[in-house]
Amino acid sequence: MSDRTKILLPEEQLPASWYNIVADLPSPPPPALHPATGKPVTPSDLSALFPPALIEQEGTTEREIAIPEDVRSLYRLWRPTPLYRARRWEEVLRTPARIYYKYEGVSPAGSHKPNTAVAQAFYNRQAGIRRLATETGAGQWGSALALACNFFGLECQVFMVRVSYEQKPYRRALMETYGAEVVASPSMRTNAGQQVLARDPECTGSLGIAISEAVEVAAQDPHTNYALGSVLNHVLLHQTVIGLEAMQQLALVGEEPDIVIACTGGGSNFAGIAFPYLGRMLRGGRSVEIRAVEPAACPSLTKGKYTYDFGDTAHRTPLLKMHTLGSSFVPPGIHAGGLRYHGMAPLVSHVLALGLIQAEAVQQLDAFAAGVEFARAEGIIPAPEANHAIAGARRAALQCREEGRSRAILFNLCGHGHFDMQAYMDYAAGRLENFDYPEEEVAMALAGLPAVPAD
Ligand SMILES: Cc1ncc(COP(=O)(O)O)c(C=O)c1O
Repeated sequence: MSDRTKILLPEEQLPASWYNIVADLPSPPPPALHPATGKPVTPSDLSALFPPALIEQEGTTEREIAIPEDVRSLYRLWRPTPLYRARRWEEVLRTPARIYYKYEGVSPAGSHKPNTAVAQAFYNRQAGIRRLATETGAGQWGSALALACNFFGLECQVFMVRVSYEQKPYRRALMETYGAEVVASPSMRTNAGQQVLARDPECTGSLGIAISEAVEVAAQDPHTNYALGSVLNHVLLHQTVIGLEAMQQLALVGEEPDIVIACTGGGSNFAGIAFPYLGRMLRGGRSVEIRAVEPAACPSLTKGKYTYDFGDTAHRTPLLKMHTLGSSFVPPGIHAGGLRYHGMAPLVSHVLALGLIQAEAVQQLDAFAAGVEFARAEGIIPAPEANHAIAGARRAALQCREEGRSRAILFNLCGHGHFDMQAYMDYAAGRLENFDYPEEEVAMALAGLPAVPAD
């Protein structure tokens, strides 16, 4: 083990392929179902929304998928991303653990999201599509897609959850600077938005509603496709560059993680760092504990039901088997907007159901306390979402202290919080609160689950 703090990977070692966990799973993940027929969706069911290459990636069982050279050359603008040893934070925590973090905040948009945005824009451009429509919560995904569409000469329309649209004008300005059109959701542009506003003119929006609006726009225009920033298999696949790089970086200093941690909203940054390690373990390699950390206010993995549900509020998506709190559930207004989603990636849900990973929930105030402690020790202001991973790593490091064990912890610092300073100001002023698990709202939302044929 070396004493290096910042571990860089030479550019030539940028991964040439993404890693597909499906090739190594002990059982295949349950398929997405068509809501009308209850049968597995076919490629033609998806063709109004996605280009052929992404539809193929959604269902492939190949282990390695070559990254197109055009995508790799854009990745090189910020990849390989640095991996750090958190020495100063280890001292603060007085832990014998060795804590490493992969920092995805160095991308132009400030998070891991461009890893898939660039790939999705590339394949859509290749298919002759002119415009992409999408949703965004806190604005990280919308910024990433706006950036990627600009690189490939595509138009970009972003339905931004209204509460974030109003709270985060600089994220909005970033998307517009990259050339995107940003619409506050719910909007009057779509039937889905109009229906919500008719019921509740003051509705502050949710990711589920914004997805319905973007899907509706894409489904109605042959030149427009839909892009999703998380949840789907192809999105998780693109994020595996994170874990593949981290493996090489830790090998450079003779390390192997005992515990791998990431936050989970829809599951993509978690899968990105964890699946390459999980796959290696499934192939008989080194055993590793993998922990997903979610907000206690929106606890799909720890409190949700593992069943088929819609990915959006207006029920325009296929049915996905996932841990869900119900598609009509509108999570409390925590500042980690990217973690306010009712469901979870089917692949992440599947590996949890198989007992291959663990999940834990963190309260908002604990996440911010950990994030501020980390920022003071390491200098980086984390995105509110990333604070959940930091809180999880902190818990693991303190456990090592109690047990007197020196274990290696690797976590994903999925983004910076430079556009989230209002949240830090609110935290410092004592204006942030914890939210109890919204049991009644979840029970109501789960009562509306769709009927599906028996598994
Ligand atoms: C910085 C950041 N981290 C995490 C997430 C959660 O998404 P995922 O679970 O797909 O990584 C988001 C989503 O918008 C995000 O912006």
